[in-house]
Amino acid sequence: MAHISAGIGTSHVPAIGMAMDLNKTEEDYWKPLFAGYQWTREWISAPENKPDVVILVYNDHATAFDMNLIPTFAIGCAETFQPADEGWGPRKVPVVENHPDLAWHIAQSCILDDFDMTIVNKMDVDHGLTVPLSLMFGKPNAWPVKVVPIAVNVVTYPPPSGNRCYKLGEAIARAVASFPEDIKVQVWGTGGMSHQLQGPRVGLINAAWDQKFLEDLTADPERLRTIPHIEYLRETGSEGIEMVMWLIMRGALRANSTALHKHYHVPASNTAVGHIVISNSTG
Ligand SMILES: [Fe+2]
Repeated sequence: MAHISAGIGTSHVPAIGMAMDLNKTEEDYWKPLFAGYQWTREWISAPENKPDVVILVYNDHATAFDMNLIPTFAIGCAETFQPADEGWGPRKVPVVENHPDLAWHIAQSCILDDFDMTIVNKMDVDHGLTVPLSLMFGKPNAWPVKVVPIAVNVVTYPPPSGNRCYKLGEAIARAVASFPEDIKVQVWGTGGMSHQLQGPRVGLINAAWDQKFLEDLTADPERLRTIPHIEYLRETGSEGIEMVMWLIMRGALRANSTALHKHYHVPASNTAVGHIVISNSTG
């Protein structure tokens, strides 16, 4: 049967993708940020750790979805997804290949488990999905994993609660556990950490809050699932709500899972960057 081996949390700042695409990763501004991902790149390339499939939780930034269509939880079930044109032409990164059988299985399992997923068959994927892949795998000719995209609305009010996201993670874990193919799966939660891109508090960073969130992903995830939207807004800025997507990743892992690696860096174009690798407990 399929199993979830690990979870990864990471920011998906568009400027990170641009720094990689324009070969700026060795510049003083970017070097410390990328240094924190080196451990993960080595870890994930080891055969015993490399997943067959990544369930990649991210948000679309008015690229595939806009005010005409706002799915709270969307799952991509097509064979492939093209990198989106976000205004400067599509990033020159590989096409994203799905594992459609697993994606359809997750859709079926979650919907019958009372999660009303929106099934999407045509969807370009923006930096929210491609930047995490670039961070973990660099610049390959083809992504070394299949990707099941799960897009969450955190752009238009109301986004789902952290607790609802956590429960979706639990439902995804049940779905994977009932998929009859012997494959290794990782769940990634992306977005965040604290950042505000507009208004009088533009540039807001709250390192203490972010680092406590990173710590409590393993120390006290029960606290995280009850954080209300207003606290994200007040403490982490208008875009910090993206962190609820990390709780889908966390909910997919067992309670006593442990962190293997953490990284926190400020700034990356007005945002705080966070990263964690969590090994899923075996029981
Ligand atoms: Fe985002």
